[in-house]
Amino acid sequence: MNTMDFSAFDFSNRHVFVAGGSSGINFGIAQAFARAGAKLTVISRSADKVASAARQLEALGTQALGLSADVRQPQALEQAFATATERFGPIDVLVSGAAGNFLASALDMSPNAFKTVVDIDLLGSFNVARIAHAHLRKPGSCVIQISAGQAFIPTPFQAHVCAAKAGVDMLTQVLALEWGAQGVRINSIVPGPIADTEGLKRLAPTGDTLDAMANRVPLKRLGRIDDIARMALLLASDWGSYITGAIIPVDGGFALTGPRDFTAAAAASKRAHA
Ligand code: COA
Ligand code: NAP
Repeated sequence: MNTMDFSAFDFSNRHVFVAGGSSGINFGIAQAFARAGAKLTVISRSADKVASAARQLEALGTQALGLSADVRQPQALEQAFATATERFGPIDVLVSGAAGNFLASALDMSPNAFKTVVDIDLLGSFNVARIAHAHLRKPGSCVIQISAGQAFIPTPFQAHVCAAKAGVDMLTQVLALEWGAQGVRINSIVPGPIADTEGLKRLAPTGDTLDAMANRVPLKRLGRIDDIARMALLLASDWGSYITGAIIPVDGGFALTGPRDFTAAAAASKRAHA
């Protein structure tokens, strides 16, 4: 997956902590930091997934820790951050990207369905940031939240994600104001449709819907996980040292094209969920 050259960046002996880091985009970011020499902690719910992610990161020649924790559970997070910093020291870079998604109209969403995504994406991001704060290197650390275009593009069948990710980006901006004087920067990356990810599989489940999505991107291709990883490394490096509170699309221009039509994909998802 990671085919780009990350040697321009040197994160030797830095501690990078990735929440939701056991798969997809977030794991790709973890791999890129590992290639640049960082020590990695990845957390997510599945003990098997975090163990496998840590093994793969160590195979890149660095030290890595995989811990099982649900971002909806503050106590589990407290323990994960304590274990991680005991092992690798204060956190230099925090990537916060745990999320859940499914297509459903607001009327097909139970209160618990809406709450589940808000709890993971928004409350989870708040939990991660608030609990991480005591463990961040100050000054000099960098927090990267993984948002989505739904944060600012009203998107049918995505009421839960739109509400949650809008909150994530607002959190980014508020924390940039509150933490700037301590030398902690925080920004949101807004990925476009990224090939070979669970998120895109859920929004474009067939070849046709995937082609239509790629065709809609002004740059006429789906994103690659490395496109997002590059931005994460740039933000965390000295090159990003004057950037905070920014909401940064890395999407080939996709956000400029407005709301998508998920009607057909949502009908298929509804049949599968019934
Ligand atoms: N349509 C409507 N409602 C749905 C749904 C769908 N496709 N999928 C789940 N729900 C509802 C459930 O019915 C439940 O509501 P209920 O209690 O009223 O029946 C609620 O959502 C919670 O589902 P549950 O499976 O208990 O949640 P969970 O915490 O185990 O899992 C999810 C969270 C649902 C987001 C799950 O899809 C997940 O773990 N996703 C992570 C991977 C992912 O989404 N990756 C893409 C990131 S962008
Ligand atoms: P993914 O592989 O499913 O990544 C989500 C990660 O979050 C998984 O590692 C998952 O692992 C973890 N997670 C889910 N719920 C959690 C919880 N309650 N506590 C802790 N960890 C949890 O999906 P992805 O598509 O790569 O998405 C990654 C991020 O990019 C998300 O923030 C998403 O919103 C964003 N994004 C994706 C796209 C895209 O095209 N894919 C576009 C825009 C934005 P466990 O199952 O082990 O918990």
